[in-house]
Amino acid sequence: MLEIRDLEVGYGELTILKGISFQAKDGELIAMIGANGAGKTTLLKTIAGLIAPRRGEIVYDGERIDSLPPHKRVGMGIVYVPEGKRPFPYLTVKENLELGAFNPRARDELLRKLEYVYGLFPILKDRRDQLAITLSGGEQQMLAIARGLMSNPKLLMLDEPSFGLAPKIVTSIFDVIHKLHRELELTVILVEQNARRALEMADRAYVLETGRIVLEGAGRELLQDDRVRRAYLGI
Ligand SMILES: Nc1ncnc2c1ncn2[C@@H]1O[C@H](COP(=O)(O)OP(=O)(O)O)[C@@H](O)[C@H]1O
Ligand SMILES: [Mg+2]
Repeated sequence: MLEIRDLEVGYGELTILKGISFQAKDGELIAMIGANGAGKTTLLKTIAGLIAPRRGEIVYDGERIDSLPPHKRVGMGIVYVPEGKRPFPYLTVKENLELGAFNPRARDELLRKLEYVYGLFPILKDRRDQLAITLSGGEQQMLAIARGLMSNPKLLMLDEPSFGLAPKIVTSIFDVIHKLHRELELTVILVEQNARRALEMADRAYVLETGRIVLEGAGRELLQDDRVRRAYLGI
């Protein structure tokens, strides 16, 4: 489904991703963990088409996509939910969701999709006519994910969806991600600093350190790995 080969990405003189290769198979939930500044966001933005790589290939469903503009990639089902993304504050919840469905493939199914995301996040249904600015942080994160779902992803990339949220909300966000992965058979790339929860849920995981992938394995396997335990689980 997704294959990244030898990806090098930087900003100006700075090289951030130093030759990254990895893959996500159809329907896999991949966790990408790593410290602040490791390059996780840069990686997702590059896959989404928001940053052009200097070198390397991004192959999606057998096709090179690394020179396609972001909206083409969204149209192919590649959806990126940025970290700390705030919805449009003075639009209602429902209006924010409708904006997520801008591509034609999704528009046909707008109503069905709305019902589906309201089923996943009943609180958004209750608040559908409220301005987004009135939502709590957790509800805004739910709205950001729900909006991503409105554009019919096949590959959903979530950048630190649990960041800054209260533990109870974190649990419900992780539950929803797990459910999406199961019910819609979405391929998910989950970037998280909350390494334990991400690893518990992931089929496979990669550890990114200063722009390089240093470890790869099944999520449960990495939970037992001494280096991961010391560096990311505080054990
Ligand atoms: N627009 C930018 N211009 C210059 N440097 C950047 C930019 N965005 C991120 N960086 C730098 O790239 C490195 C990796 O950042 P990022 O991909 O956000 O890491 P992570 O998401 O793992 O915390 C950091 O050192 C950061 O300061
Ligand atoms: Mg980041």
